[in-house]
Amino acid sequence: MKILVINGVNLNLLGVREPQHYGSTNLQTIEQNLRKIIDNHNLTAKQIASLDFFQSNHEGVLVDKLQQVFLEKSIDKIIFNPAAFTHTSVALRDTMAAIQIPFVEVHLSNIHRREEFRKHSYFSDLPNNLGVLCGFGAKGYEMALQFLLNE
Ligand code: DQA
Repeated sequence: MKILVINGVNLNLLGVREPQHYGSTNLQTIEQNLRKIIDNHNLTAKQIASLDFFQSNHEGVLVDKLQQVFLEKSIDKIIFNPAAFTHTSVALRDTMAAIQIPFVEVHLSNIHRREEFRKHSYFSDLPNNLGVLCGFGAKGYEMALQFLLNE
């Protein structure tokens, strides 16, 4: 199983960006923790997985990456934190609908406990959205991975 972990705008600043919302773990550590789960656990044949990790601040670059993995058929599942694009991007929503790859939507912060505009996600109602994790900080990515490994 090949899993793409894809992060949107401003998530390269994790660790230094508003730690009251996003915690103090940076994106490199999140990636390392996910790789440790894959490397260290005694995974069954079904659970054997490899990770591709990608972040961009640019909507079109994220669209290009998602289209590419779709056309190359190189990815089976996606863990996606679209960040602010969650609340704004019809373009990325259309891409996720087009590629139909099953995904888990992750947010570090609890978007329902914050400003009103964060309560709507353009991704949560898509048929290929397996579930939404929000409010568990960096652990949310690990929970998403554990879910996909055990699915
Ligand atoms: C976020 C929540 C979004 O509202 C925000 O714009 C982000 C990060 C989160 O992980 O909590 O940049 O997706």
